[in-house]
Amino acid sequence: MKNKLAAGRYVLFAVSLVCITGIYGCGVPQDPSDNKGSQSASAEMTDGERLYKRYCKRCHSMGPPPKFGPPVKGIAIHYRDAFADKKKAVEHMVAFMQHPDASLSKCRPEAVRRFGLMPAMNLPEKELRTVSDWFWEQFDPELKHRHDSGHHH
Ligand code: HEC
Repeated sequence: MKNKLAAGRYVLFAVSLVCITGIYGCGVPQDPSDNKGSQSASAEMTDGERLYKRYCKRCHSMGPPPKFGPPVKGIAIHYRDAFADKKKAVEHMVAFMQHPDASLSKCRPEAVRRFGLMPAMNLPEKELRTVSDWFWEQFDPELKHRHDSGHHH
């Protein structure tokens, strides 16, 4: 009797484990049509600003003061600190926008605490790449100087 009970508990435990891994396994749906990695169009750079104005501007101002998220120039500073080259930074930004995750944030931890986590951007991967590229290019050396010398937001 006692043994049977223990076995029952074990089964329950195993079942709940399967449930948990099942949830996580399904929690990150991948759209196979997004994985083509198109890098052709040369008009991408000019599209960046257009995409920013359309999808990002309501939360991201260019410089301080911030709106609902860190300003674009601040993000560019942190991404240039975190990544040696643009390609890696863009990959990371794209992945972040598809599945925002505080542990992947390249901004200061205060940013997520202050603003909350960014909502996922439901855009085609190509557009996410274009706008991430544009964010990276908005780096402003003058602002970085002020940023690094105590002007913390
Ligand atoms: C509804 C508001 C909102 C919109 C719209 C929005 N963002 Fe954000 N974003 C945030 C907030 C809040 C944060 C800060 C917290 C965080 O990092 O998730 C953030 C952070 C970021 C970061 C830094 C991620 C990191 O490493 O922490 C990047 C890059 C970014 N946004 C890019 C974009 C781009 C590009 C767009 C437009 C396609 C966009 N965001 C649209 C709210 C928004």
